[in-house]
Amino acid sequence: MSQTIVIFGASGDLTSRKLIPALYQLYRKNRLRETVRIVGFSRTPMSDEQWRNKLAETTQTFSGGTFTQEKWDAFSQMIHYFSGDIEKSGFDGLETYLRSLENTGSDTESHANRLYYLSTSPVFYASIAAKLGAAGMASEKEAANGTRRVIIEKPFGTNLETAKTLNTAIHQVFKERQIYRIDHYLGKETVNNVLVFRFANTMFEPVWNRNYIDNIQITANEEVTVGHRAAFYEKAGILRDMFQNHLLQILTFVLMEPPSRFEADAVRDEKVKVLRAIRAMAPEEVRTNTIRGQYRSYRDEPGVDKDSQTATYAAVRLMADNWRWKDVPIYLRSGKAMSCRTTQIVIQFKQPPHSMFQGESGKRNKTIAANRLLIQIQPAEGIQIYFQTKVPDTDMKCRETTFNFNFRQSFQGELPEAYERLLLDAMNGDASLFARSDEVEAAWEIIDPIQNTWETQLADHLSFYEAGSWGPNHAADWIRQFGQEWFDFCPLLHS
Ligand code: BG6
Repeated sequence: MSQTIVIFGASGDLTSRKLIPALYQLYRKNRLRETVRIVGFSRTPMSDEQWRNKLAETTQTFSGGTFTQEKWDAFSQMIHYFSGDIEKSGFDGLETYLRSLENTGSDTESHANRLYYLSTSPVFYASIAAKLGAAGMASEKEAANGTRRVIIEKPFGTNLETAKTLNTAIHQVFKERQIYRIDHYLGKETVNNVLVFRFANTMFEPVWNRNYIDNIQITANEEVTVGHRAAFYEKAGILRDMFQNHLLQILTFVLMEPPSRFEADAVRDEKVKVLRAIRAMAPEEVRTNTIRGQYRSYRDEPGVDKDSQTATYAAVRLMADNWRWKDVPIYLRSGKAMSCRTTQIVIQFKQPPHSMFQGESGKRNKTIAANRLLIQIQPAEGIQIYFQTKVPDTDMKCRETTFNFNFRQSFQGELPEAYERLLLDAMNGDASLFARSDEVEAAWEIIDPIQNTWETQLADHLSFYEAGSWGPNHAADWIRQFGQEWFDFCPLLHS
């Protein structure tokens, strides 16, 4: 059976920067089925040839050194373009066009599987789904055995209420098993490796709990500023842009119980349990348990309100109310315009119950650092374990040393782009790495109380930070009041 991928929002950035390069890579690696068609849908009138030429340039730019003209020429024959206006017309014309493509060549059964990729502005998601339904393009019965799946880009709603409304609208047309809500962090190899690290090894899981772990820190810092994305960012802010999706998704992998099988619902059941165990913050707790920051030049960015209260940085202290994690603080933080780009998970272990040894300085009362596990999601993908070692030629003095695992040293070649894995999984019907409706809603239930309290009650809570720093100055004192320290770490990149 052949596969048709329809990309709504074909002229958008995501299509040229991520989706087409990912599909090109899958083609180059022989991961695509024989007959795949990629149909771009957008307003701008263009011929297939014109769109292919545009994409040739961008794919070359975004595919690193792996682009060859020969491969592209072969791959680009799969690419088609259909111009249409989501706001003005239905999809009958599109359906006729798709059928005409699907009925050509040797593959005349017209049983093509379809994957609709919603990469437009989120305001169109519900109406695209409705129009697909109205044109009979969503039902797998009418499609005579072909599958009909839909990938929905983030953001999925802007709060719990809008996410529920969107879920309801999409469910009018598609069954949950047809829906793939994408979060590209779940396609990152290093994020998936958290599950392998925990559940394919026996030595870490026994200590992966409140008895041994003091706190967990998940950081996603970016050097980039908001730049030309102000129109979107002003409304979103850091909590909606990075926490509700990416950081909470990583958190579920770190905290979840082992599922019995690596299957979509088994995995997602466990993730939902984690999200539901996170204690929702009461308004009076938000001031104490969060930091809300904005980099100083943010208000000078084009399109940003001069009095903007939008957070470009946040740190949040969460608690999970379950047996494994009771009383272990989980710190999530993320910021734009930070000193370096790093996404990392720190598992900070407790101090040994009794210490006989001294640190290298030999100072009395100077505690030696407790064990720490650092999982570097990007850009220096790897894992380090920090542990104490006896300093040679001293009397039992200790120094912190590391075990180091690095993906690029242990495995050859570049790590694949997240969208490769996710597009392939969606084509193959594996939803393990996509968010389910209840999962998205549970994530909003954690974020909404914070965002709402910030907006309605805590105007004075916003603090400013210098671009190129680690966030507001008081962030260090803030975490110290809880008895912890940030592990601020800029990865060393070896070429
Ligand atoms: C996106 C956010 O979802 O993720 C961006 O909208 C952010 O603001 C990006 O820059 C980060 O993704 P990555 O893969 O570069 O870490």
